[in-house]
Amino acid sequence: MSPLTQVQPLSGPGKIGILTSGGDAPGMNAALRSATKVALSRGHRVYGIRHGFKGLLDGELVEMDHGDVDDIVRQGGTVLGSARELRFKEPAGKELAQERLMEFGLDGVVVIGGDGSLTGARELAKLDTARGERLRVVGIPASIDNDVGCTSLAIGVDTAVNTIVSAVDRISDTARAHDRTFIVEVMGRDCGYLAMVGAIASAADAVLYRESGRSHDEMLVHLEETVRQAYRPGGRRSRAKRMVLIIKAEGVTLPAERIKAHLDATLRTEIPTLETRVTVLGHLVRGGAPSAMDRLMAARLAHIAVRALEAGRTNLMTGWRASEGGEETMDRDVSLFDLDTVLRETAELRAATSETAQRRVAMLQAVESIFAL
Ligand code: F6P
Repeated sequence: MSPLTQVQPLSGPGKIGILTSGGDAPGMNAALRSATKVALSRGHRVYGIRHGFKGLLDGELVEMDHGDVDDIVRQGGTVLGSARELRFKEPAGKELAQERLMEFGLDGVVVIGGDGSLTGARELAKLDTARGERLRVVGIPASIDNDVGCTSLAIGVDTAVNTIVSAVDRISDTARAHDRTFIVEVMGRDCGYLAMVGAIASAADAVLYRESGRSHDEMLVHLEETVRQAYRPGGRRSRAKRMVLIIKAEGVTLPAERIKAHLDATLRTEIPTLETRVTVLGHLVRGGAPSAMDRLMAARLAHIAVRALEAGRTNLMTGWRASEGGEETMDRDVSLFDLDTVLRETAELRAATSETAQRRVAMLQAVESIFAL
């Protein structure tokens, strides 16, 4: 056990702050509910910190009771509110945070969020409590992008994939009715995970994701071939599926409208009936009631986060089904990882150099050629 992650256990009732930060994700409320209820049931006082790190600096803390979280499990977004706060990155912001910790007497903080939030959590773990102990800080991964290291899934991913699949299913109805080609762009920042798994689950014909390493020109040639394949005798268009579905990850900087213009221009003579349309799903993918999977995962990650704080653990994140290199907990699907490792793996995941990123690409490449058949 690294000494950096072990400080004094809570010897009696403590004060635990909880914040949600960065892009909201369905299931954040389920995590908040679970963390609050677990902490209250173990005799602690719980403070909801509104608007993430911004609220911590501005002193927006509200004491929470069971009634505040009883019915939030089914709500998307975050009832605490979220923000992307830049002040906390500066020394003055950290000093202000330290003052707030003294003022409110927090013994520990649970940080629910993605990359930026966990980076903030690591900074928070360097601060002290009013009792002169190091602050206990445990993060919980929540981001629809699935770009957090040391966890096979982050809270919100499962709901986002379900939302993408149901949106593409709807688009497929109108695409089929008009024999059209659709380019559907999905969120995910630099990470192609949502596009990759969304494409498989919605039976798309092609997927564009940054991690493939294809140049924009190569992507365009790949799409031309996909559409040609669909129109050749015996191809998609002469069978039941009279449409072409292309999923594009947000991280691919080639604009969807440019892809449409390119396909229209290049294939017009060859395929006079070709009609392409573009739909950018955008923030629609981030909203909605969390799936059962997200609720359950959130509850279990939050349970372990609070138990870890109580045991005097800090500078850690709870990870889902990713025990490699992690510390086992009483929940066999949840492990603890130190935030330095988490943030290093997150950076590698976003740069597509991590083993996880490479495995995702290899998995997709192994099946991609079947997509357009
Ligand atoms: O990180 C979650 C995410 O939804 C990304 O997929 C997207 O790139 C970004 O946040 C959008 O951020 P904002 O809501 O600030 O526009």
